[in-house]
Formats: sequence, C-alpha cells, structure tokens
Amino acid sequence: MAKKEFPSNMNSMWRYSQLLPVKSPSCVISLGEGWTPLLLSRRLGKHIGLRMLRIKDEAQNPTTSFKDRGLCAAVSRHFELGAKAIALPSAGNAAVSASAYAAAAGLQAHIFMPNDTPEPFFHQCELFGAETTRVEGTISDAGKTMRELKGDWTDLSTTKEPYRVDGKKTLGFEISEQMGWSVPDAIICPTGGGTAIIGIWRAFDELEAIGLIGSERPRMYAAQSGGCAPIVRAIEKGTDDIEAWENGETEALGLRVPSPFAGRLILHSIRNSGGGAVAVAEQEIEPTRRTASKLEGLDICPETAVGICGLRNLIESGTIDYDEDVVLINTGSGARYSNFR
Ligand SMILES: Cc1ncc(COP(=O)(O)O)c(C=O)c1O
Repeated sequence: MAKKEFPSNMNSMWRYSQLLPVKSPSCVISLGEGWTPLLLSRRLGKHIGLRMLRIKDEAQNPTTSFKDRGLCAAVSRHFELGAKAIALPSAGNAAVSASAYAAAAGLQAHIFMPNDTPEPFFHQCELFGAETTRVEGTISDAGKTMRELKGDWTDLSTTKEPYRVDGKKTLGFEISEQMGWSVPDAIICPTGGGTAIIGIWRAFDELEAIGLIGSERPRMYAAQSGGCAPIVRAIEKGTDDIEAWENGETEALGLRVPSPFAGRLILHSIRNSGGGAVAVAEQEIEPTRRTASKLEGLDICPETAVGICGLRNLIESGTIDYDEDVVLINTGSGARYSNFR
C-alpha cells in the first residue's frame, strides 16, 4: 500500500479504513472521531524541562476522549456482525463514548460504572439512551456485576474483544503521519486497562509492514497514580503477569484499574519498546492539573495530569532527555470531572 492511498481529505480515523476491521462502509458509525491535532506545546514542555513536547489532543474527539477511537471501531464492527445491544463496565469516558456510538447505531447500551463516578458521566450516558447501573467499588466490580447478569448483549469490556484495540491503533498511525511518517523518541500515556499502549505499539508494526516507516520505534511509557499502579509494580518486579492491586484509589478515575485484563500484552509492548512505567504521587495530580491547564489553555483531566507528572519524573531521573522529541497523549477533557473542583 502506498502512502497516497490514505485519503488525505478524510479528517477522521477512517482515513485508515483499509487497516481497520469494518468491511462495509455503510456499517461505519462515525461521529468524526480521530485526526486530532498534534499540538506543539508552547509552555508546558519548557516548564517541565523539555525542548520539544507535542501533545496529541484527544479531548477534541466527539465525546471528548480517546475512548471514541476504540468504541467507534468496536460498535461499528459488532453492528456489522449483527449485535443488537452492547454492554461494558467503565470508569466514565468509555461509557459516554459507547453510549454515543450505540445511539448512532440504534443499539441499546448497558453501562456499569462505579457509583463514585462524577454525575456528568451518568447524565451523558442517559442522554444518549443508555441504561446505567451504579456499582459499589471499582471498574473490576462493575465488570463482575455485569457478567453475573449474563444479559443478551455483546460484551465490549476493555481488551475482551479485539476491535477497541484496533481503533486505538489509529492513534499511532496519526502520530506517525503527522510527523511525516516518522516516530518520536518517546510516547507517554496515562494507562489503566492499556488499550492505547497496546494499540499504538501495534500500529508501528503495521506501518512498517506496509513500508511507511522503518524499524525505528518510540519508547513507550505508561503513567499511573501511586494509589493504583499495578503496571508500574510489574515492570519494577520484572514479572510476566500483572498482579492485582489491592484497594486501588486515585482521583484519576480512568486509571483505577486494579487488574488489567491484557496484562501480558501491556508489559510486552512497554518492554519491547525499551520504555517503562512511572508512578506519580496522588497529591500532585490536582496541582499539576491546574498548572498545566493554565500553561497550555487546555482543560486537563486528572489522568493527563498523571501523564504530565510522570513525564516530569522521567525527565528528573534522566530517563528522558531535554533534547528528545516526546509525545504526551492528552487522553480526554477535564470538563466532566466537576465533582472534584
Ligand atoms: C481520560 C482517560 N485517560 C486514560 C484512561 C486509561 O485508558 P486505558 O484503560 O485504555 O489504559 C482512561 C480510562 O478510562 C480515561 O478515561
């Protein structure tokens, strides 16, 4: 496949439809997701000690988070396969995204969220016609409740079906295309269930297979809160699997994933890239969020604040150099986290 075969006038992730799982164009349930800007940071990068920081601004997706990529691909493909209803446990953003795409496809969405999820997430899901269930505990407990019900639906839980990761690959395609079919030195991503880390890493292999890039790869870094850091612990201990984190608590609710289902794939992506995982102090999240929002003019969510703190820790420890070309994934908008203001 030649570069010119990606339609340059298609400003959504479906410019890569040849590399995505939906066969029939009429089954693509698009709300305009993807092809988000790769912003050149004017002030935040310098503030934390970098010459060049780029921010992949996923808050500019239709429902304001990077979850739209995976859920657009998954809802479209399951719609094509004949699904009538979908269900998933979520920390918030994936729920809103799934509800929106299910609405557009005419499918019933069943959403299971921890009951301390900020109210705006529930309101938006309900606005899109989803049936919401509040569950005591974390996303793992929400998943358990959902599975016990054994409803007549397609389970879209993180990494339990293949298409959400397929959608997330487009983040890697875009970063590379927006950099002139090259790759940065490092990518830092706030990580919970790990679909983005897995998807982005896979994207570079696909781009190499079709001759768009060579064997160069970025180092991939996962950032987590010290209040729930099972990936960081597994990387530090050198284990093959991710052991469940007991009583995980963090303000960055999307990162409160005590036991990521695709543990081995996450660890494989990080280790093969030569990157790592970094934990940040919980009390730094809110101040970082405020400082970064002021410096960059973006409404930074707690998860991205974890990514920024993690990046600063990696710079301070000498793991990332001042001169390196770094991409931070701004995974979503902070606007729905109003409970915490
Ligand atoms: C804003 C935000 N960032 C990061 C994450 C973590 O994403 P993943 O579970 O794909 O690692 C989430 C998950 O809910 C999220 O909502």
